Amino acid sequence: MKMNLDFCGIPMKNPLTTASGTFNPRAHADFYDLSILGAVTVKGVASTPWDGNPTPRIAEVYGGMLNSVGLQNPGAKAWIREELPFLQQYDTKIIVNLCGHTMDEYTEVAQMFRGVPVDLLELNISCPNVSAGGVTFGTDPKMVEKVVSAVKKEVDKPLIVKLTPNVTDITEIARAAEAGGADALSLINTLLGMKIDIYRRKPVLARSVGGFSGPAVKPVAVRMVYQVSKAVDLPIIGMGGVMTGEDVAEFIMAGASMVAIGTAALVDPQAPVRILQELEEFCDKTGVKDIQEIRGII
Ligand code: FUM
Repeated sequence: MKMNLDFCGIPMKNPLTTASGTFNPRAHADFYDLSILGAVTVKGVASTPWDGNPTPRIAEVYGGMLNSVGLQNPGAKAWIREELPFLQQYDTKIIVNLCGHTMDEYTEVAQMFRGVPVDLLELNISCPNVSAGGVTFGTDPKMVEKVVSAVKKEVDKPLIVKLTPNVTDITEIARAAEAGGADALSLINTLLGMKIDIYRRKPVLARSVGGFSGPAVKPVAVRMVYQVSKAVDLPIIGMGGVMTGEDVAEFIMAGASMVAIGTAALVDPQAPVRILQELEEFCDKTGVKDIQEIRGII
């Protein structure tokens, strides 16, 4: 059973990665060997440290959860010094999610990763929890092309652009990212949601709204991966509500080359181990010899 693949020229032992923001390397490494994954994708890193949003910033809802973390991160310098050496102990590829409030902040953090031994960069223009940057860039095709081409000029690694589902036509945004020079796309980030505590008559999240993720979003994510894979000629990391190995196969059939596990790993930190095993079982059961043979068959 062949699980390995080439993603933007980077050899991956299998199509599984983590979804940015749901993966804490040190915490998850207590539960399983990170080397089982094709790649790990880490929480957004900015050019300077960010505190994130006030709490409460997590809430459970039917079929998933809301988060409004606000891209809390230690800044690129501290991340490279303190977090990267930990990840380098593992035989897995490293994808760093890059965030910024402004065009300058995006290009600045991209420059800070030049010559740094990580494998791919993922441009986060889709976080719904910041008032500048994030989704404010990712919903306007002109801005998408502009920020992607500005960042692309600064990077020395393949650039993945992470897309938001909070748009009318995701294919228009995907084409703008392709025109800007993206090497790959990842989708979906979270759907904007809200929960109200009816007894306190207040929103549950301090910021009122947040990003909705979990199994309930999977049909939206699969539909968008399918549409985007038909619209552009770029490899895709599919994500959104993946809970099982069968879900991974579904994203690959929709057109994804790789698939990220997100909320599932917050419910059960060992989910990637189980999901990989289930994917192998699915392939054995259905006669799939090479995982890429089912890519985009729909
Ligand atoms: O709020 C957050 O940190 C989420 C980030 C994202 O959705 O990209």
